[in-house]
Amino acid sequence: MKKLSANEIRKMWLDFFKSKDHYFLEPVSLVPVEDPSLLWINSGVATLKPYFDGRMNPPSPRLTNSQKSIRTNDIENVGVTARHQTMFEMLGNFSIGDYFKKEAIEFAWELLTSPKWFAINPELLYITVFNEDKEAYDVWTRTIGIKEDHIFKGSRDTNFWDVGQGPCGPNTEIFFDRGEKWDTEKIGSRLLKDDIENDRYIEIWNIVFSQFNNDGNNNYIELPRKNIDTGAGFERLVSIFQDAPTNFETDIFFPTIKEVEKICNSKFKYSIENYYNENKEQTKINTAFKVIADHVRAVVFAISDGVFPGNKDRGYIIRRLIRRSSVYGRKLGIQDAFLYKLVDKVIEAMQEFYPYLIEKAQSVKEIIKQEELRFLKTLSKGYEHLENIVKNENKVSAKNALLLFESFGFPIELTSEIASESNVEVDLKGYEALLEQTKELARNSRKNDKAWNKQSAILTGLNVESEFVGYELEECESTINFIFEDEKSLEIAKDKVVFVTLTKTPFYAEKGGQAADNGYLIDEQENRHLVLDVQSGPNGQHIHKVQVNGTLKVGDLIKAEINSEKRFYTMKNHSGTHILQAGIQEVLGKEALQSGSYNDENGLRIDISYNRLPTQEEIDKIHLAINREIKNCIPREIIYCSLQEAIEKHNALALFTEKYGGTVRIIKFGKFSCELCGGTHVENTKDIEDLLITNVESKGSGVFRYHAVTSHKEVANYLNEQFRKQKSEISSLIDKFNNFKLKVKNQEIEQEINAITSMQVTKPNLILIKQKVNDLKNTFKLYQKEVEDLLIEENLAKYSNIEPTKKENINLIDIEINDLEMKELKVLSDKMQNKYDNLIIKFANTKDKVFIVSVSESISNDNKAIDLFKNNGKYEVKGGGNNTFAQGKIV
Ligand code: ALA
Repeated sequence: MKKLSANEIRKMWLDFFKSKDHYFLEPVSLVPVEDPSLLWINSGVATLKPYFDGRMNPPSPRLTNSQKSIRTNDIENVGVTARHQTMFEMLGNFSIGDYFKKEAIEFAWELLTSPKWFAINPELLYITVFNEDKEAYDVWTRTIGIKEDHIFKGSRDTNFWDVGQGPCGPNTEIFFDRGEKWDTEKIGSRLLKDDIENDRYIEIWNIVFSQFNNDGNNNYIELPRKNIDTGAGFERLVSIFQDAPTNFETDIFFPTIKEVEKICNSKFKYSIENYYNENKEQTKINTAFKVIADHVRAVVFAISDGVFPGNKDRGYIIRRLIRRSSVYGRKLGIQDAFLYKLVDKVIEAMQEFYPYLIEKAQSVKEIIKQEELRFLKTLSKGYEHLENIVKNENKVSAKNALLLFESFGFPIELTSEIASESNVEVDLKGYEALLEQTKELARNSRKNDKAWNKQSAILTGLNVESEFVGYELEECESTINFIFEDEKSLEIAKDKVVFVTLTKTPFYAEKGGQAADNGYLIDEQENRHLVLDVQSGPNGQHIHKVQVNGTLKVGDLIKAEINSEKRFYTMKNHSGTHILQAGIQEVLGKEALQSGSYNDENGLRIDISYNRLPTQEEIDKIHLAINREIKNCIPREIIYCSLQEAIEKHNALALFTEKYGGTVRIIKFGKFSCELCGGTHVENTKDIEDLLITNVESKGSGVFRYHAVTSHKEVANYLNEQFRKQKSEISSLIDKFNNFKLKVKNQEIEQEINAITSMQVTKPNLILIKQKVNDLKNTFKLYQKEVEDLLIEENLAKYSNIEPTKKENINLIDIEINDLEMKELKVLSDKMQNKYDNLIIKFANTKDKVFIVSVSESISNDNKAIDLFKNNGKYEVKGGGNNTFAQGKIV
């Protein structure tokens, strides 16, 4: 077996497929872009969905990559089993409508066995295929020559790749035989044939023949364009070439494990020998090392991709990984925060393929350290909590175990261990059930998002000409060259909504966060057909959604004319988006990464991954930076170059899928902002005119959405609207005040009102007016109470002489008072109750139709207010109360 380092193995894989005309795709962020169905990128193919479902065409029909991925379904198994990882790399080769089964199998075999490449002894390779896939079986046995005792037919469970809605199909898997030392009972290949869990045969490569579409209800139809999707677990391959018992004794993880040994002063040591000669205590120790090495690597990568520890979604997973590894650190006797000390080891092992990790190292360390320190505080509280449970109850309930896990980060093993030291039992079954419930909830919360789009045969096959001239022109003469509706092409469309392509178009298709243009197609009879939307087809054509006003035919000459006002403001907002992104990074730091944006004629928004909302001071600084750049009148440059040049020479921000193209387009505003972008932009920062952040809101999982408007006109509109709103909020207070001040003057309020109504509409005043309106509302509350109390007093004064009639030892007041409101009647009744003992009061206001009864406590047992209210003998009432008081309406 060749001895190869991890980096050599990855390189050999990629070089092999490059030599077979595959286009190399750089790894993309672990955070899925514009794919809400996924929490993390979880396979190589997850990054290629638009190519697989036909929304977009790839830069080449043959692709290869090594993609960092995260799967979190069974974090608990990481460190316990030999091969579970949180983060792993998946090596892949893909065919998008190019080669299929035969070539895919031939490529795999050549790479694995050829002396020029991996040179694995073919005798050690075993194959499984789907039992209905005769074609694949034949390629393996006839073309490649696999002997029958090395190939097995598997079931739908083992050999069919299906993730619900989307492309799916049979697969073939390749296994490596690690020999009898991993099969002590000498069962042999039956382990594989009968799908028995084992350590001997390791799956190294999964080749999926993506040939059906699952409509989401398990109805399968053949795809118009068949694809190949393969995935090989990088860490597994490395473990084979480095003859490691598990994925961890490799040059990917072992340096980190060694560093942990150092940190615990070698009190505990990792033992490879333990895999051949097991000691249960040492197994636990090995597990702790493995958990830490796996988790810290995943955390370094995730934080570098802009995920911060938090309470939801991705942030929560990162928090859990940090907590779990910190707890395992305690098991190795490490008391202080230590995970950040491992970051350099992780980076050393990974930097050849992921050089960007180096510049992130410092901030990643800081984030991990702060999070671990915070956790250590929680952990000691958790210990206290658990000690209390252990002392006071003879069982740790499922609910408490879950609480310890979710709120204090205690893994269940730790809870069990501590409890068992005091002979206290933990309801493990109940805990598992509860945990499953919470997981189910988490799973369901994502189920509703469509995982894959359906391939459209008409779109994937579309090859008409369609030139975009909209960077230079707002209108042009053009010819309709294709019309379709659903999956049907049309020669002619009458008075309905259809999709149309044009030989030339000035219409921008929605892309890169910029809204599509709207406008008209004007035919030779001067009929105007409204363009409702424009999307980009898989082969780059702009697909116009058109409301036909009369008739449109293929071959018609038309004038295509965009709504230039919409475009004008959209451009300002798109350039504003770039400038805002740069301004945010200048103030918050490079780790404030954009995870999405949108701009149209009304404004812009941009989602930023960060650990918190910006402070007002930071927002002010961002405004300053942006307006400085606008005032500096920086001309826009558009540069076309290779991706490498864009990143290395221009330091361009490359966030999204544009990175797959051969030549990329850069929009640059001096030194301040440089981004890969296909959008339309103003010629100079001065054309943005002005930019105002109008709101920043949290979208959860460490994502914060910044809303902004640009241009003098829109900023002024926004400010006017805000001032109008603020002023209208106090208009009812002003009316009241004009009334009240006749009774009670209040200079302070008078001044506050004047200050607000006369306030100039300016940016700095916006915050001020909001504050002042708030202050006024608060002061006014007190003032209003004062005035109202006074008015009540005055109103009541007339009734200060009422006297009760006396019957035996009960005092009774039963009168109708039509000029006091309910509120005043209550105050009056309280006053009377204070004045007389054993008093029953019945007050009615027949004008307002209200009625109250009040009874002194001393006599309320025999004269319940609620009974007197209901059986009052005069009015039919509706209402409620108790022994001493009842109130309601006269109906
Ligand atoms: N997409 C396939 C997998 O994840 C290759 O196994």
